Amino acid sequence: MAREEKPRKVILVGDGAVGSTYAFSLVQQGIAEEVGIVDIVKERTEGDAIDLGDATPWTFPKHIYSTDYSDAKDADMVVITAGAPQKPGESRLDLVNKNLKILSSIVEPVVESGFDGIFLVIANPVDILTHATWKMSGFPKDRVIGSGTSLDSGRLQKVIGQMEGVDPRSVNAYMLGEHGDTEFPVWSYNNVGGVKVSDWLKAHNMPESKLEDMHQEVKNMAYDIINKKGATFYGIGTAAAFITKAILNDEHRVLPLSVPMDGQYGLHDLHIGTPAVVGRKGLEQIIEMPLTDKEQELMTASADQLKKVMDKAFK
Ligand code: LAC
Repeated sequence: MAREEKPRKVILVGDGAVGSTYAFSLVQQGIAEEVGIVDIVKERTEGDAIDLGDATPWTFPKHIYSTDYSDAKDADMVVITAGAPQKPGESRLDLVNKNLKILSSIVEPVVESGFDGIFLVIANPVDILTHATWKMSGFPKDRVIGSGTSLDSGRLQKVIGQMEGVDPRSVNAYMLGEHGDTEFPVWSYNNVGGVKVSDWLKAHNMPESKLEDMHQEVKNMAYDIINKKGATFYGIGTAAAFITKAILNDEHRVLPLSVPMDGQYGLHDLHIGTPAVVGRKGLEQIIEMPLTDKEQELMTASADQLKKVMDKAFK
């Protein structure tokens, strides 16, 4: 950061397992110079601010503090992780009513503060909450973004990387659609070094059914983690920090995010996961991947599912 530049400032709303892991990730990676934490449990934000500050002698200089919504006024980003988490057996969509209520208690005071930066929504069901944040805030579409299928795509990169023996960062792979049960991998694209995963399987005499196994494994990964340890937070916390970095550093990076559909994939009036370009101004481009007929069907079905739940919840 050049000395004359204003510190990059993030207001984190929600200091639960995901929020505090996200904040830790920001500290560890030197993303943002100023992080204000808001939560209804004020004491927890105070404790976390001190504890995270204790990490800074070994990481990056950073001002971390407990705060309230009025402080969003001059923030670059407001990042929302607040909401009820999934319990074992619950889907992300089951959280919709509870978390929409919590969301409205957040967006209103943030907007009232005079905030005119970028909302990044992480809480679930993320596609619906992102759409709702956009509606409630009255913000332009390019300044409300959801984490979408970034974690799911990362999980897919991990699974493919393990199978092929390569670094997950070298795997080009996307999960598209809802961040939830109807998401799907784009097997017509997903590749390592330009070799489609399906071709790699053939070349290694492995059955094509592996593709579906990987789809199921990725789709169910959060359930598996929640059954074993009650919550997921390292994956999403790190993914959210990576998105934050791409925005604050004006990286023009392509990431699979929850973004507004305006005819892409034949979809309208919802947010859903697809690759998009983000930078300092927020959402810069939405990328519509060329899909096979079967993939397009899955995208339509995923959107239909979101619409169904939204129609009910927004009534
Ligand atoms: C997960 C939660 C964040 O997929 O939705 O881990």
